[in-house]
Amino acid sequence: MSWLLHLTVERESRIPLALQIRSALRDLIESGTLWPGTRIPSSRQLALDLGVSRSVVVEAYEQLTAEGYLHTRHGSGTTVSLRARPAESTASTLVPPDPEPAPEAMWDLRTGTSNVLDFPRQEWVRCVTAVVSAAGPDELSYAPPSGVPLTRRVLAGYLGRVRGVRSSPENLMVTSGFAQGLALVCKVLVDRGHRTLGVEDPGHPAEREFVTSSGLRPVGIPVDADGLCVDDLEASGVRAVLVTPGNQFPTGVRLSQQRRERLIAWARAVDGYVLEDDFDSAFLHRTDRLPALQSLAPDHVIYAGSASKTLAPALRLGWLAAPSELMSSIEYVRAGWDIGCSGLEQLAFARFIDTGALDRHQRRLRTEFYRRRQLIRRQAADALPGTRVVGRNSGLQTYLELPPTIPEPALVRAARTRSVLVRGGTFYACTDTPRPPALVLSYATVNCAGLAQSLSALAVEYRRLATGNGPG
Ligand SMILES: Cc1ncc(COP(=O)(O)O)c(C=O)c1O
Repeated sequence: MSWLLHLTVERESRIPLALQIRSALRDLIESGTLWPGTRIPSSRQLALDLGVSRSVVVEAYEQLTAEGYLHTRHGSGTTVSLRARPAESTASTLVPPDPEPAPEAMWDLRTGTSNVLDFPRQEWVRCVTAVVSAAGPDELSYAPPSGVPLTRRVLAGYLGRVRGVRSSPENLMVTSGFAQGLALVCKVLVDRGHRTLGVEDPGHPAEREFVTSSGLRPVGIPVDADGLCVDDLEASGVRAVLVTPGNQFPTGVRLSQQRRERLIAWARAVDGYVLEDDFDSAFLHRTDRLPALQSLAPDHVIYAGSASKTLAPALRLGWLAAPSELMSSIEYVRAGWDIGCSGLEQLAFARFIDTGALDRHQRRLRTEFYRRRQLIRRQAADALPGTRVVGRNSGLQTYLELPPTIPEPALVRAARTRSVLVRGGTFYACTDTPRPPALVLSYATVNCAGLAQSLSALAVEYRRLATGNGPG
Protein backbone atom coordinates (compact mmCIF):
# COMPACT_ATOMS: atom_id res chain seq x y z
CA MET A 1 0.00 0.00 0.00
CA SER A 2 1.37 3.40 -0.95
CA TRP A 3 1.46 6.32 1.50
CA LEU A 4 1.29 8.82 -1.33
CA LEU A 5 -1.62 7.35 -3.29
CA HIS A 6 -4.55 5.18 -2.26
CA LEU A 7 -3.15 2.26 -4.21
CA THR A 8 -1.92 -1.31 -3.49
CA VAL A 9 0.15 -3.71 -5.61
CA GLU A 10 0.39 -7.46 -5.13
CA ARG A 11 3.83 -8.72 -5.89
CA GLU A 12 2.69 -12.41 -5.95
CA SER A 13 -0.03 -11.74 -8.51
CA ARG A 14 0.36 -12.99 -12.08
CA ILE A 15 -0.84 -9.58 -13.31
CA PRO A 16 2.17 -7.43 -14.25
CA LEU A 17 2.93 -4.62 -11.78
CA ALA A 18 2.62 -1.88 -14.41
CA LEU A 19 -0.84 -3.13 -15.31
CA GLN A 20 -1.90 -3.26 -11.64
CA ILE A 21 -0.81 0.36 -11.11
CA ARG A 22 -2.49 1.49 -14.31
CA SER A 23 -5.83 -0.20 -13.46
CA ALA A 24 -5.83 1.04 -9.86
CA LEU A 25 -5.10 4.63 -10.92
CA ARG A 26 -7.72 4.50 -13.67
CA ASP A 27 -10.32 3.28 -11.15
CA LEU A 28 -9.43 6.12 -8.77
CA ILE A 29 -9.87 8.65 -11.57
CA GLU A 30 -13.07 7.16 -12.98
CA SER A 31 -14.71 6.93 -9.56
CA GLY A 32 -13.91 10.59 -8.92
CA THR A 33 -11.65 9.75 -5.97
CA LEU A 34 -8.84 11.52 -7.80
CA TRP A 35 -10.25 14.86 -8.91
CA PRO A 36 -9.21 16.50 -12.24
CA GLY A 37 -6.17 18.72 -11.72
CA THR A 38 -4.89 16.74 -8.71
CA ARG A 39 -1.12 16.40 -8.78
CA ILE A 40 0.05 12.80 -8.35
CA PRO A 41 3.49 11.66 -7.08
CA SER A 42 6.37 11.56 -9.54
CA SER A 43 7.24 8.13 -10.95
CA ARG A 44 10.39 8.15 -8.82
CA GLN A 45 8.52 8.92 -5.58
CA LEU A 46 5.80 6.35 -6.24
CA ALA A 47 8.29 3.67 -7.22
CA LEU A 48 10.24 4.25 -3.98
CA ASP A 49 7.06 4.27 -1.95
CA LEU A 50 5.76 1.02 -3.44
CA GLY A 51 9.20 -0.63 -3.55
CA VAL A 52 9.02 -1.33 -7.30
CA SER A 53 11.33 -0.35 -10.10
CA ARG A 54 10.79 3.10 -11.57
CA SER A 55 10.35 1.76 -15.11
CA VAL A 56 7.18 -0.05 -13.94
CA VAL A 57 5.58 3.21 -12.79
CA VAL A 58 6.79 5.09 -15.87
CA GLU A 59 5.11 2.48 -18.08
CA ALA A 60 1.79 2.84 -16.19
CA TYR A 61 1.92 6.64 -16.32
CA GLU A 62 2.74 6.67 -20.03
CA GLN A 63 -0.18 4.40 -20.80
CA LEU A 64 -2.61 6.53 -18.76
CA THR A 65 -1.30 9.71 -20.40
CA ALA A 66 -1.89 8.19 -23.84
CA GLU A 67 -5.43 7.27 -22.77
CA GLY A 68 -6.12 10.84 -21.64
CA TYR A 69 -6.34 10.12 -17.89
CA LEU A 70 -3.12 11.88 -16.95
CA HIS A 71 -1.44 15.01 -18.09
CA THR A 72 2.32 15.43 -17.88
CA ARG A 73 4.05 18.73 -18.32
CA HIS A 74 7.77 19.14 -18.10
CA GLY A 75 8.71 20.95 -14.92
CA SER A 76 5.25 20.82 -13.29
CA GLY A 77 4.84 17.09 -12.84
CA THR A 78 1.92 14.79 -13.56
CA THR A 79 -1.68 15.68 -12.83
CA VAL A 80 -5.07 14.05 -13.38
CA SER A 81 -6.30 15.31 -16.73
CA LEU A 82 -8.92 18.05 -16.57
CA ARG A 83 -10.90 16.15 -19.17
CA ALA A 84 -10.87 12.95 -17.14
CA ARG A 85 -14.24 13.66 -15.49
CA PRO A 86 -16.74 16.47 -15.93
CA ALA A 87 -16.51 19.01 -13.08
CA GLU A 88 -19.64 19.40 -10.99
CA SER A 89 -21.20 22.64 -9.93
CA THR A 90 -20.37 23.90 -6.42
CA ALA A 91 -23.13 26.45 -5.91
CA SER A 92 -23.27 28.06 -2.47
CA THR A 93 -26.45 27.48 -0.49
CA LEU A 94 -27.15 31.06 0.59
CA VAL A 95 -26.73 32.28 -2.98
CA PRO A 96 -29.65 30.66 -4.80
CA PRO A 97 -29.23 29.85 -8.49
CA ASP A 98 -30.98 32.06 -11.01
CA PRO A 99 -33.67 30.44 -13.14
CA GLU A 100 -31.48 31.08 -16.19
CA PRO A 101 -27.69 30.70 -16.19
CA ALA A 102 -25.99 34.09 -15.93
CA PRO A 103 -23.98 35.22 -18.92
CA GLU A 104 -20.71 37.06 -18.48
CA ALA A 105 -21.91 40.47 -17.41
CA MET A 106 -20.32 43.80 -16.75
CA TRP A 107 -22.44 44.69 -13.71
CA ASP A 108 -23.79 42.24 -11.18
CA LEU A 109 -26.54 43.89 -9.14
CA ARG A 110 -27.89 40.63 -7.72
CA THR A 111 -28.14 40.28 -3.95
CA GLY A 112 -26.12 37.63 -2.13
CA THR A 113 -22.80 39.33 -2.72
CA SER A 114 -20.55 41.27 -0.32
CA ASN A 115 -18.04 44.03 -0.87
CA VAL A 116 -15.09 41.65 -0.83
CA LEU A 117 -13.06 43.96 -3.07
CA ASP A 118 -12.52 46.18 -0.04
CA PHE A 119 -11.68 43.34 2.35
CA PRO A 120 -9.16 44.88 4.77
CA ARG A 121 -6.39 42.44 3.91
CA GLN A 122 -3.52 44.10 5.70
CA GLU A 123 -5.36 44.63 8.97
CA TRP A 124 -6.75 41.10 8.91
CA VAL A 125 -3.33 39.61 8.16
CA ARG A 126 -1.83 41.63 11.03
CA CYS A 127 -4.39 40.14 13.42
CA VAL A 128 -3.91 36.58 12.12
CA THR A 129 -0.11 36.94 12.35
CA ALA A 130 -0.26 38.24 15.91
CA VAL A 131 -2.62 35.47 17.00
CA VAL A 132 -0.72 32.64 15.32
CA SER A 133 2.63 33.90 16.60
CA ALA A 134 1.39 34.03 20.18
CA ALA A 135 -0.68 30.82 20.12
CA GLY A 136 0.26 28.33 22.83
CA PRO A 137 -0.98 24.76 23.34
CA ASP A 138 -4.36 25.99 24.62
CA GLU A 139 -5.06 28.17 21.59
CA LEU A 140 -4.02 25.35 19.24
CA SER A 141 -6.24 22.81 20.93
CA TYR A 142 -10.04 22.27 20.91
CA ALA A 143 -12.09 25.23 22.10
CA PRO A 144 -15.56 24.72 23.59
CA PRO A 145 -18.12 24.12 20.80
CA SER A 146 -19.69 27.51 21.57
CA GLY A 147 -16.49 29.28 20.73
CA VAL A 148 -13.25 30.58 22.18
CA PRO A 149 -14.07 32.18 25.57
CA LEU A 150 -12.02 35.31 24.81
CA THR A 151 -13.86 35.84 21.50
CA ARG A 152 -17.24 35.40 23.18
CA ARG A 153 -16.24 37.94 25.82
CA VAL A 154 -15.13 40.45 23.20
CA LEU A 155 -18.25 39.82 21.09
CA ALA A 156 -20.60 40.21 24.06
CA GLY A 157 -18.98 43.58 24.81
CA TYR A 158 -19.00 44.65 21.17
CA LEU A 159 -22.66 43.71 20.52
CA GLY A 160 -23.72 45.46 23.70
CA ARG A 161 -21.77 48.56 22.70
CA VAL A 162 -22.94 48.89 19.08
CA ARG A 163 -26.37 47.18 19.09
CA GLY A 164 -27.52 47.25 22.69
CA VAL A 165 -27.61 43.43 22.70
CA ARG A 166 -28.01 42.06 26.22
CA SER A 167 -25.82 38.98 26.30
CA SER A 168 -22.98 37.37 28.22
CA PRO A 169 -20.17 35.10 27.03
CA GLU A 170 -22.21 32.18 28.41
CA ASN A 171 -25.20 32.75 26.13
CA LEU A 172 -23.20 33.62 23.03
CA MET A 173 -22.09 31.12 20.42
CA VAL A 174 -19.72 31.64 17.49
CA THR A 175 -21.22 29.93 14.45
CA SER A 176 -20.14 29.14 10.93
CA GLY A 177 -22.01 32.14 9.52
CA PHE A 178 -25.66 32.98 10.03
CA ALA A 179 -26.54 29.89 8.01
CA GLN A 180 -25.35 27.57 10.76
CA GLY A 181 -27.02 29.65 13.46
CA LEU A 182 -30.30 29.33 11.58
CA ALA A 183 -29.88 25.58 11.13
CA LEU A 184 -29.08 25.13 14.84
CA VAL A 185 -32.08 27.13 15.97
CA CYS A 186 -34.38 25.25 13.57
CA LYS A 187 -33.12 21.90 14.86
CA VAL A 188 -33.77 22.89 18.46
CA LEU A 189 -37.24 24.16 17.54
CA VAL A 190 -38.02 20.84 15.83
CA ASP A 191 -36.78 18.97 18.92
CA ARG A 192 -39.18 21.08 21.00
CA GLY A 193 -42.17 20.21 18.89
CA HIS A 194 -42.35 23.15 16.46
CA ARG A 195 -43.45 22.17 12.97
CA THR A 196 -43.57 25.64 11.35
CA LEU A 197 -41.52 28.83 11.30
CA GLY A 198 -42.82 32.25 10.25
CA VAL A 199 -40.69 33.92 7.57
CA GLU A 200 -40.98 37.33 5.97
CA ASP A 201 -42.73 37.62 2.62
CA PRO A 202 -40.86 38.81 0.62
CA GLY A 203 -37.73 37.39 2.15
CA HIS A 204 -34.59 35.39 1.50
CA PRO A 205 -35.39 32.37 -0.73
CA ALA A 206 -32.32 30.38 0.30
CA GLU A 207 -33.09 30.87 3.99
CA ARG A 208 -36.53 29.38 3.37
CA GLU A 209 -34.83 26.35 1.85
CA PHE A 210 -32.62 26.05 4.91
CA VAL A 211 -35.67 26.14 7.11
CA THR A 212 -37.39 23.46 5.03
CA SER A 213 -34.39 21.16 5.06
CA SER A 214 -34.19 21.52 8.84
CA GLY A 215 -37.65 19.96 9.06
CA LEU A 216 -39.78 23.10 9.59
CA ARG A 217 -42.40 24.41 7.17
CA PRO A 218 -41.81 28.09 6.41
CA VAL A 219 -45.00 30.13 6.64
CA GLY A 220 -44.89 33.43 4.73
CA ILE A 221 -45.93 36.48 6.79
CA PRO A 222 -46.50 39.66 4.74
CA VAL A 223 -44.26 42.69 5.11
CA ASP A 224 -45.60 46.23 4.58
CA ALA A 225 -44.13 49.71 5.02
CA ASP A 226 -43.86 49.12 8.79
CA GLY A 227 -42.19 45.74 8.47
CA LEU A 228 -43.60 42.35 9.45
CA CYS A 229 -47.43 42.38 9.76
CA VAL A 230 -47.96 41.17 13.30
CA ASP A 231 -51.72 40.70 12.76
CA ASP A 232 -50.95 38.09 10.11
CA LEU A 233 -48.34 36.53 12.36
CA GLU A 234 -50.90 36.17 15.14
CA ALA A 235 -53.36 34.57 12.74
CA SER A 236 -50.79 32.16 11.31
CA GLY A 237 -50.54 29.88 14.33
CA VAL A 238 -46.73 29.72 14.26
CA ARG A 239 -44.83 30.05 17.54
CA ALA A 240 -41.48 31.15 16.15
CA VAL A 241 -40.55 33.64 13.46
CA LEU A 242 -37.43 34.68 11.54
CA VAL A 243 -37.19 38.45 10.94
CA THR A 244 -34.80 41.15 9.73
CA PRO A 245 -36.21 44.00 11.86
CA GLY A 246 -33.33 46.50 11.50
CA ASN A 247 -33.45 46.54 7.71
CA GLN A 248 -35.89 44.13 6.14
CA PHE A 249 -34.41 41.92 3.44
CA PRO A 250 -34.96 42.73 0.60
CA THR A 251 -37.37 45.70 0.91
CA GLY A 252 -35.21 47.88 3.21
CA VAL A 253 -38.15 48.88 5.45
CA ARG A 254 -37.65 49.01 9.21
CA LEU A 255 -39.89 47.33 11.75
CA SER A 256 -41.71 50.28 13.31
CA GLN A 257 -41.55 50.99 17.03
CA GLN A 258 -45.17 49.95 17.47
CA ARG A 259 -44.67 46.69 15.57
CA ARG A 260 -41.53 45.92 17.59
CA GLU A 261 -43.58 46.16 20.76
CA ARG A 262 -46.40 44.09 19.32
CA LEU A 263 -43.98 41.44 18.08
CA ILE A 264 -42.49 41.07 21.54
CA ALA A 265 -45.96 40.94 23.09
CA TRP A 266 -46.86 38.17 20.62
CA ALA A 267 -43.71 36.18 21.50
CA ARG A 268 -44.58 36.43 25.20
CA ALA A 269 -48.22 35.53 24.63
CA VAL A 270 -47.44 32.35 22.64
CA ASP A 271 -44.33 31.61 24.71
CA GLY A 272 -42.47 31.59 21.43
CA TYR A 273 -39.28 32.89 19.85
CA VAL A 274 -38.21 35.59 17.46
CA LEU A 275 -34.99 34.89 15.53
CA GLU A 276 -33.52 38.32 14.74
CA ASP A 277 -31.26 38.26 11.66
CA ASP A 278 -29.19 41.42 12.13
CA PHE A 279 -26.91 40.65 9.18
CA ASP A 280 -26.35 44.18 7.82
CA SER A 281 -26.79 46.42 10.86
CA ALA A 282 -23.28 47.80 10.28
CA PHE A 283 -24.75 49.66 7.31
CA LEU A 284 -27.70 51.27 9.06
CA HIS A 285 -27.75 54.95 8.36
CA ARG A 286 -27.66 57.30 11.38
CA THR A 287 -31.34 58.17 11.00
CA ASP A 288 -32.41 54.52 10.69
CA ARG A 289 -30.72 53.10 13.75
CA LEU A 290 -32.70 51.44 16.51
CA PRO A 291 -31.17 49.07 19.07
CA ALA A 292 -31.41 45.36 18.33
CA LEU A 293 -34.88 43.94 18.93
CA GLN A 294 -33.23 41.49 21.32
CA SER A 295 -32.57 44.34 23.76
CA LEU A 296 -36.34 44.52 24.40
CA ALA A 297 -36.76 40.88 25.37
CA PRO A 298 -33.59 38.79 25.65
CA ASP A 299 -35.66 35.87 26.94
CA HIS A 300 -37.73 35.63 23.74
CA VAL A 301 -35.42 36.93 21.02
CA ILE A 302 -32.48 34.98 19.61
CA TYR A 303 -30.07 37.49 18.15
CA ALA A 304 -27.95 36.46 15.14
CA GLY A 305 -25.22 38.30 13.28
CA SER A 306 -22.57 37.62 10.67
CA ALA A 307 -19.26 38.90 9.35
CA SER A 308 -20.25 37.98 5.79
CA LYS A 309 -21.41 41.46 4.79
CA THR A 310 -18.87 43.51 6.73
CA LEU A 311 -15.77 41.39 6.05
CA ALA A 312 -16.18 38.38 3.76
CA PRO A 313 -18.48 35.35 3.45
CA ALA A 314 -15.37 33.18 3.11
CA LEU A 315 -14.61 33.66 6.81
CA ARG A 316 -17.83 31.80 7.72
CA LEU A 317 -18.08 33.78 10.94
CA GLY A 318 -21.38 34.40 12.65
CA TRP A 319 -22.80 34.52 16.16
CA LEU A 320 -25.92 33.76 18.14
CA ALA A 321 -27.05 35.20 21.46
CA ALA A 322 -29.86 33.05 22.82
CA PRO A 323 -31.88 32.86 26.03
CA SER A 324 -29.99 30.67 28.51
CA GLU A 325 -32.60 27.89 28.57
CA LEU A 326 -32.36 27.63 24.76
CA MET A 327 -28.59 27.95 24.64
CA SER A 328 -27.99 24.69 26.47
CA SER A 329 -30.05 22.83 23.81
CA ILE A 330 -28.22 24.69 21.00
CA GLU A 331 -24.88 23.76 22.58
CA TYR A 332 -25.95 20.14 22.85
CA VAL A 333 -26.85 20.00 19.14
CA ARG A 334 -23.68 21.84 18.13
CA ALA A 335 -21.42 19.48 20.07
CA GLY A 336 -22.76 16.68 17.91
CA TRP A 337 -22.27 18.59 14.67
CA ASP A 338 -18.78 20.00 14.32
CA ILE A 339 -17.25 20.84 17.75
CA GLY A 340 -16.98 24.54 16.87
CA CYS A 341 -15.33 26.91 14.39
CA SER A 342 -11.63 27.56 13.80
CA GLY A 343 -10.21 28.82 17.12
CA LEU A 344 -7.41 30.76 15.47
CA GLU A 345 -9.82 32.62 13.22
CA GLN A 346 -12.04 33.45 16.19
CA LEU A 347 -9.04 34.87 18.03
CA ALA A 348 -8.08 36.94 14.98
CA PHE A 349 -11.63 38.28 14.84
CA ALA A 350 -11.55 39.19 18.55
CA ARG A 351 -8.34 41.10 17.93
CA PHE A 352 -9.85 42.77 14.88
CA ILE A 353 -12.67 44.05 17.08
CA ASP A 354 -10.46 44.95 20.04
CA THR A 355 -8.01 47.01 18.01
CA GLY A 356 -10.84 49.08 16.53
CA ALA A 357 -10.17 47.73 13.02
CA LEU A 358 -13.76 46.52 12.62
CA ASP A 359 -15.24 49.90 13.61
CA ARG A 360 -12.91 51.69 11.17
CA HIS A 361 -13.61 49.32 8.32
CA GLN A 362 -17.38 49.47 8.82
CA ARG A 363 -17.35 53.26 8.95
CA ARG A 364 -15.58 53.35 5.56
CA LEU A 365 -18.06 50.90 4.03
CA ARG A 366 -21.06 52.68 5.54
CA THR A 367 -20.09 55.98 3.97
CA GLU A 368 -19.46 54.35 0.61
CA PHE A 369 -22.73 52.37 0.61
CA TYR A 370 -24.72 55.45 1.55
CA ARG A 371 -23.17 57.28 -1.40
CA ARG A 372 -24.09 54.40 -3.73
CA ARG A 373 -27.64 54.28 -2.44
CA GLN A 374 -28.14 58.01 -2.90
CA LEU A 375 -26.85 57.73 -6.46
CA ILE A 376 -29.42 55.02 -7.21
CA ARG A 377 -32.17 57.19 -5.70
CA ARG A 378 -31.18 60.20 -7.83
CA GLN A 379 -30.68 58.27 -11.02
CA ALA A 380 -33.93 56.31 -10.59
CA ALA A 381 -35.82 59.57 -10.10
CA ASP A 382 -34.24 61.07 -13.24
CA ALA A 383 -34.02 58.15 -15.64
CA LEU A 384 -36.68 55.69 -14.47
CA PRO A 385 -39.78 57.89 -14.14
CA GLY A 386 -42.68 56.33 -12.28
CA THR A 387 -40.49 54.08 -10.13
CA ARG A 388 -40.42 54.33 -6.34
CA VAL A 389 -37.64 53.43 -3.91
CA VAL A 390 -39.16 51.40 -1.09
CA GLY A 391 -37.47 51.45 2.30
CA ARG A 392 -35.11 53.74 4.08
CA ASN A 393 -31.49 54.75 3.62
CA SER A 394 -29.62 51.70 4.84
CA GLY A 395 -28.24 48.40 3.72
CA LEU A 396 -26.80 46.93 0.58
CA GLN A 397 -29.68 46.86 -1.86
CA THR A 398 -32.48 49.07 -3.11
CA TYR A 399 -35.99 47.74 -3.66
CA LEU A 400 -37.31 49.68 -6.61
CA GLU A 401 -41.03 49.41 -7.28
CA LEU A 402 -42.00 49.71 -10.96
CA PRO A 403 -45.23 51.08 -12.40
CA PRO A 404 -47.79 48.30 -13.03
CA THR A 405 -47.36 48.77 -16.79
CA ILE A 406 -43.73 47.59 -16.75
CA PRO A 407 -43.46 43.78 -16.98
CA GLU A 408 -40.86 42.77 -14.38
CA PRO A 409 -39.58 39.57 -16.08
CA ALA A 410 -39.17 41.38 -19.41
CA LEU A 411 -37.13 44.14 -17.78
CA VAL A 412 -34.92 41.61 -15.97
CA ARG A 413 -34.33 39.78 -19.27
CA ALA A 414 -33.71 42.96 -21.22
CA ALA A 415 -31.20 44.13 -18.57
CA ARG A 416 -29.15 40.99 -19.23
CA THR A 417 -28.81 41.90 -22.87
CA ARG A 418 -27.25 45.18 -21.65
CA SER A 419 -24.81 43.32 -19.39
CA VAL A 420 -26.70 44.12 -16.18
CA LEU A 421 -27.59 41.22 -13.90
CA VAL A 422 -30.48 42.04 -11.61
CA ARG A 423 -33.36 40.21 -9.93
CA GLY A 424 -37.05 41.03 -9.90
CA GLY A 425 -39.13 41.27 -6.72
CA THR A 426 -40.87 37.95 -7.43
CA PHE A 427 -37.57 36.13 -6.88
CA TYR A 428 -37.97 36.89 -3.15
CA ALA A 429 -41.72 36.29 -2.85
CA CYS A 430 -42.83 33.47 -0.64
CA THR A 431 -46.54 33.45 -1.49
CA ASP A 432 -48.69 34.38 -4.51
CA THR A 433 -49.84 37.64 -2.89
CA PRO A 434 -50.06 40.14 -5.78
CA ARG A 435 -47.45 42.90 -5.54
CA PRO A 436 -46.32 45.70 -7.84
CA PRO A 437 -43.47 44.69 -10.16
CA ALA A 438 -40.06 45.55 -8.74
CA LEU A 439 -36.32 45.31 -9.18
CA VAL A 440 -33.90 44.61 -6.35
CA LEU A 441 -30.60 46.38 -7.01
CA SER A 442 -27.67 45.29 -4.88
CA TYR A 443 -24.80 47.77 -4.75
CA ALA A 444 -22.43 45.65 -2.65
CA THR A 445 -19.92 45.04 -5.41
CA VAL A 446 -20.52 47.82 -7.95
CA ASN A 447 -19.07 51.27 -7.25
CA CYS A 448 -20.71 54.61 -8.08
CA ALA A 449 -19.23 54.79 -11.57
CA GLY A 450 -20.44 51.27 -12.36
CA LEU A 451 -23.86 51.98 -10.88
CA ALA A 452 -24.25 55.11 -13.00
CA GLN A 453 -23.43 53.13 -16.14
CA SER A 454 -25.59 50.15 -15.26
CA LEU A 455 -28.59 52.34 -14.42
CA SER A 456 -28.19 54.21 -17.70
CA ALA A 457 -28.19 50.87 -19.52
CA LEU A 458 -31.24 49.79 -17.54
CA ALA A 459 -32.99 53.06 -18.34
CA VAL A 460 -32.74 52.40 -22.08
CA GLU A 461 -34.63 49.13 -21.69
CA TYR A 462 -37.04 50.67 -19.21
CA ARG A 463 -37.98 53.42 -21.64
CA ARG A 464 -38.42 50.90 -24.41
CA LEU A 465 -40.82 48.81 -22.32
CA ALA A 466 -42.62 51.92 -21.02
CA THR A 467 -43.34 53.10 -24.57
CA GLY A 468 -44.51 49.66 -25.63
CA ASN A 469 -41.53 48.95 -27.90
CA GLY A 470 -40.12 46.24 -25.69
CA PRO A 471 -39.35 42.69 -26.69
CA GLY A 472 -42.22 41.57 -24.43
C1 LIG B 1 -30.70 38.05 4.83
C2 LIG B 1 -29.32 37.51 5.09
N1 LIG B 1 -29.01 37.09 6.32
C3 LIG B 1 -27.78 36.63 6.62
C4 LIG B 1 -26.80 36.54 5.66
C5 LIG B 1 -25.44 36.03 6.03
O1 LIG B 1 -25.34 34.66 5.94
P1 LIG B 1 -23.99 33.92 6.30
O2 LIG B 1 -23.48 34.53 7.56
O3 LIG B 1 -24.35 32.49 6.47
O4 LIG B 1 -23.03 34.14 5.17
C6 LIG B 1 -27.07 36.94 4.35
C7 LIG B 1 -26.04 36.83 3.31
O5 LIG B 1 -26.25 36.93 2.13
C8 LIG B 1 -28.37 37.45 4.07
O6 LIG B 1 -28.68 37.88 2.84
